[in-house]
Amino acid sequence: MSGSAAPGNQTVTITLDGADRSTTLPLLAGTVGPSVADIRKLYNDLGIFTFDPGYGGTAACESKITYIDGDEGILLHRGYPIEQLAENSTFLEVAYLLLNGELPNAGERHDFEQGVIRHTMLHEQLRSFYNGFRRDAHPMAVMCGVVGAMSAFYHDSLDINDPHHRKISAFRLIAKLPTIAAWAYKYSIGQPFIYPRNDRGYAENFLYMMNAVPTEDYKVSPILTRAMDRILILHADHEQNASTSTVRLAGSTGANPFACIAAGIASLWGPAHGGANEAVLKMLAEIGSVKNIPDFISKVKDKNSNVRLMGFGHRVYKNYDPRAKIMQRTCHEVLGELGIKDDPLLELAAELERIALHDEYFVARKLYPNVDFYSGIILKAMGFPTSMFTVLFAVARTVGWISQWKEMIEDPAQRIGRPRQIYTGPARREFVELADRT
Ligand code: SDX
Repeated sequence: MSGSAAPGNQTVTITLDGADRSTTLPLLAGTVGPSVADIRKLYNDLGIFTFDPGYGGTAACESKITYIDGDEGILLHRGYPIEQLAENSTFLEVAYLLLNGELPNAGERHDFEQGVIRHTMLHEQLRSFYNGFRRDAHPMAVMCGVVGAMSAFYHDSLDINDPHHRKISAFRLIAKLPTIAAWAYKYSIGQPFIYPRNDRGYAENFLYMMNAVPTEDYKVSPILTRAMDRILILHADHEQNASTSTVRLAGSTGANPFACIAAGIASLWGPAHGGANEAVLKMLAEIGSVKNIPDFISKVKDKNSNVRLMGFGHRVYKNYDPRAKIMQRTCHEVLGELGIKDDPLLELAAELERIALHDEYFVARKLYPNVDFYSGIILKAMGFPTSMFTVLFAVARTVGWISQWKEMIEDPAQRIGRPRQIYTGPARREFVELADRT
């Protein structure tokens, strides 16, 4: 644990009411952000657990990768602001940064890019996995299945204790996810799979595999390539979110990296998490037009409706999600490049955002647009079907997941994750024979 004792060796003392039993817990400080009370000896000292369903106030690990200040709307990757990375870096450069802790120099960057390019092809037998799915299967179901199946093909990189295996697995996952994703899309529309090409960049290769057909050449727009690369950067990592925590928990048991990433994909799929981008487009379609916004907002405020403003709110951000602002700007660039003027979806989203940001219900709850609010509009304009939005999120987040997995495996203090509970079921009771039951 490299978190140091809080300034002045601050501590937290817990005393059981009415009892003379208490314990003093060390307070640990990170580089920035809240200090943490180290409660590891609490149960031994006082025989009690802490209770924090949803882990809203619990630090489950120590990490050096990503820092979020939810009140200020700050997102740093290894200390670099997301705004600067989105503007000046590339997705593979950010991947190197997340994995290794520093921005690569020219040689390191070239070697990393070449390492990824050399792993973009899938084992040819993995193609047959797609035939096991219905054509109308949700592509996230395909992603869970095919990524999990990688464990059955890449036996030479499954030893999590071997640094070389960890490095090869990271390359394979980062490189092959776009191929797996593009083939999931091609399979769903009954078109032939397009193989990756080594003479294309990461984002360009992905758009090429998504849109090309074997019968003619396909040129990827450089503007859309840049927009795609930036969208991937914005989704790369985000501290200990639900899917990253899933990957860490699966990895803490010693499960192989392909199985852990498949678990992360499954967790990301939920509409409260990565599935929100798809849900935003469905919500906008349901609202239909600006005149229906007031009625929709009324439904959102009615607790019994179970309707939420998708793309709004966040467990950590109680201010604007910095990624949402960059996504909104990118949205205008992409629509401009595509010659789409006055896109009705964008107009509807902008009016919905304007109304929500002035409505006391949302202001009081500090609900602001998050990364998912505008991403769906861009992706739809780029030609992605709604069902592929979360797949894209998974392609990008694989970089964050494997970086966090690597950090956990390499942490000498890491142990199997095993949360406890407060039990409120029946106390011990005797078995009742069938004949004696009412
Ligand atoms: C992502 O964790 C991450 O970092 C995730 C992510 C990443 O990069 O990994 O950033 C990606 O998942 C972004 C979030 C995408 N999800 C959505 O857009 C779905 C809509 N948002 C919500 O369902 C919600 O805001 C969550 C799930 C994102 C956060 O849930 P919390 O923190 O548990 O919020 P909460 O339920 O405690 O809400 C507090 C209040 C409640 O009202 P009260 O009970 O106080 O009256 O705010 C309300 C909630 O009902 N509320 C909303 C709302 N989100 C919260 N009301 C209407 N619409 C919403 N979207």
